[in-house]
Amino acid sequence: MKTKSVSIKENRGLSNYPPQPSPHKNPDQYNGEVLTSQGFTPKNTHNKRVYIESYGCQMNFSDSEIVASILNKEGYQLTKTLEEANIVLVNTCSIREKAEQTVRKRLELFNGLKRKNKDLKIGVLGCMAERLKHKFLEEEKMVDMVVGPDAYKDIPNLLKEAEAEREAVNVVLSKEETYGDIAPVRLATNGVSTFVTITRGCDNMCTFCVVPFTRGRERSRDPKSILEEVAQLAVNGYKEITLLGQNVDSYLWYGGGLKKDFTKASPLQQKTAVNFSNLLYLVATAQPKMRIRFSTSNPQDMSLDVIHTMAHHDNICNYIHLPVQSGSNAILKKMNRQHTRQDYFELIDKIHKIIPDCGISHDMIAGFPTETEQDHKDTLSLMEYVKYDFGFMFAYSERPGTMAAKKNEDNIPESTKKRRLQEIIDLQREHSEYRTRQFIGKTVCVLIEKSSKRSSEFWSGRTGQNTVAVFPKENYKVGDFVDVKIEEVTSATLIGWAMGHSKSI
Ligand code: SAH
Ligand code: F3S
Repeated sequence: MKTKSVSIKENRGLSNYPPQPSPHKNPDQYNGEVLTSQGFTPKNTHNKRVYIESYGCQMNFSDSEIVASILNKEGYQLTKTLEEANIVLVNTCSIREKAEQTVRKRLELFNGLKRKNKDLKIGVLGCMAERLKHKFLEEEKMVDMVVGPDAYKDIPNLLKEAEAEREAVNVVLSKEETYGDIAPVRLATNGVSTFVTITRGCDNMCTFCVVPFTRGRERSRDPKSILEEVAQLAVNGYKEITLLGQNVDSYLWYGGGLKKDFTKASPLQQKTAVNFSNLLYLVATAQPKMRIRFSTSNPQDMSLDVIHTMAHHDNICNYIHLPVQSGSNAILKKMNRQHTRQDYFELIDKIHKIIPDCGISHDMIAGFPTETEQDHKDTLSLMEYVKYDFGFMFAYSERPGTMAAKKNEDNIPESTKKRRLQEIIDLQREHSEYRTRQFIGKTVCVLIEKSSKRSSEFWSGRTGQNTVAVFPKENYKVGDFVDVKIEEVTSATLIGWAMGHSKSI
């Protein structure tokens, strides 16, 4: 049997989301490098080659790894060269209009290839597939297959349908699917830090957000399968994992089923249920030599237990991505966020009290319908209070089908949205610089991930607070935890000297 090489082209061009070290640059964790397939034994071998491109949030990148694993097991070969592919899959994002436009442009290019090669099959996966469903086949005549985020196990069948020139659409959303039984093929990672999905879907129904419609109801993954995946990653040499979900703090495992059905669970199931704080404890104690991160936290769901669990375990990073979206109570209400500005401040105060050096980042939306200048000023003053380490900031983009689109006219002129967004970004830059300056003279534990982009003589890694740090390589290597004394900073990067291997983990 031939050894298969698995690779993928991934494009983070759409948004710099979710939280990554730099507030101003697109993350490059996924840089299209070739990785091996971690020794799968395919059922049979095809001579069909699949090329996968991913857009949008980290969950999409993780999902592409699941798709790669499913296809790999079926014997498909994966390629990173578009021109040699027989099948092109594009994992899409719907979060903002611009994200969809970028995918449409990409499809034009793929269509050009198809004109030259009639046998080429094009599949659209993910949120845009789910949002547009059959319409995709009407609007994009060259697309052969449309697959929603819960139907990836059906891709091998759907590909056969597409080969037979039959309609190949599966956009059924599931109440149970967590892909817990699939070991993702780790694509284009640095071999040091990776993501482990713990929940899928979201029940929060923020009025601006398309995710509850494209990714369905919230469900949690069996903790046993999470612990197994993390243990395997440790064996494979990974040093850091990020537990991933749209809303990780609302993780709840009671034996299967939707979060909202927990009240129907048996007394025993309720008693033995695992919440997010329990899960963090289980992962951190099972893997004391691994660094644990998580993303994303919704303020309304973050419990004190979680903060205490973070504080009690040195290997859980002191960093929380805590999107707020707006600093105005009126706007938060219209967004259906279940917290006020005051609730958010209280949570921030508690975090700082329990974990004084906790890094905190945010997501912010400028120009939600009806947003006044005063609402915008409330956003700036909220930022002033928190002084976030970094943030992900967006102009409001109306999404068809959402409550906001139905109820609120998108009435803030683009120029106003842009100006407010710029003010938010400028303030964030000041705060990022304020935060990085606090590190000068301190020694921080950095996990080396890769060579610095600026200089091949420097390593680049992140602190527990998720701030990027660079330092001369000396004899250290990728995957080492190193104590680094910080001498200089920019708004996004700490620059220092290695003081020796870290003993803190
Ligand atoms: N809880 C999810 C959020 C996914 S969406 C997670 O963290 O995984 C990521 C961010 O995109 C949101 O926090 C919000 O700030 C932004 N966003 C979502 N819908 C948007 C819209 N319609 N217009 C502009 N920004 C939006
Ligand atoms: Fe979207 Fe709000 Fe969930 S932003 S993903 S509906 S927490």
